[in-house]
This record gives sequence, structure tokens and C-alpha cells, in this order.
Amino acid sequence: MKKSIISSSTLLIFCFSATSGFCDNVKGEKLDGKKEFEKHCAVCHPNGGNIINAQKPLARESLKANGVKNAKDIIGKMRKPGPGMTKFDVKTISNKEAKAIAEYILKTFN
Ligand code: HEC
Repeated sequence: MKKSIISSSTLLIFCFSATSGFCDNVKGEKLDGKKEFEKHCAVCHPNGGNIINAQKPLARESLKANGVKNAKDIIGKMRKPGPGMTKFDVKTISNKEAKAIAEYILKTFN
């Protein structure tokens, strides 16, 4: 009993100091599309660009030209990406998280 009290407070301290999304549920934080984008996508898409394929940035007009018109289409790219992009399944990014990221992209990059 005593042992489990110690380990749960250790976890709590870890969670308050952690910067990763690992403890989001423990902290009861709201989903943050910007934070999720920075965690999963910004390596290749810094500021909505594309370091691997410069022809495919995340700017609205460019997305539209490639048939990516809304949040659903962006989520589709996460689940089934084109060449050079990491695949993100529901275990890595839940549908809710994916939607928050898609909405962040649509409202941020023009
Ligand atoms: C390893 C690098 C990498 C990561 C990480 C990455 N992408 Fe991509 N992304 C790419 C590449 C390369 C393409 C172009 C693929 C193609 O030719 O269709 C792309 C294309 C896209 C497109 C379609 C752009 C278009 O005009 O067709 C969207 C939307 C997109 N990425 C969103 C995301 C999101 C959201 C994330 C994070 C969840 C992410 N990407 C993470 C490399 C990456």
C-alpha cells in the first residue's frame, strides 16, 4: 500500500515537469492542435512548409490545388500519406487529436 502511494506521487511529479504529451490525460489537459502539430509534424513541416517535398507545403492554396480541402482530407493524409511522409495510425494520433491538428493547420497556414 505504502509503495503504491510513493509511485503514484512520483508519477505525478514527473507529469507536472514533463513537456511531452505523455501525461496529457493525467493532467486532464485540453487537446491542443498546435502542440500536437509541433510534436508530430513540425520536423518535416516547419511553419507549414515541407522540407522533403517543397512542392507540398501546408499552405491552404497549395493544399487545395492537391485536392486537400478540409480537416477530413488532412486526416486522410495522416492515415494514408504520400511518399516521404510518416504514417500516423489511430494509436499514434487519435481521431480527436488528428482533428485538432487538421484544424490548426487550416487556420494557421495560408
Ligand atoms: C517525415 C516527414 C514528415 C512528417 C513527420 C509529416 N509529413 Fe506531411 N508530408 C511529408 C511529405 C514528404 C509530403 C508529400 C507527400 C506527397 O508527395 O504526397 C507530405 C504531405 C502532407 C500533406 C499533403 C500536402 C499536399 O499538398 O498534398 C499533408 C496535409 C500533411 N503532409 C500533413 C502532415 C501532418 C498533419 C503531419 C503530422 C501529423 C505530417 N504531415 C507529418 C512529410 C512529412
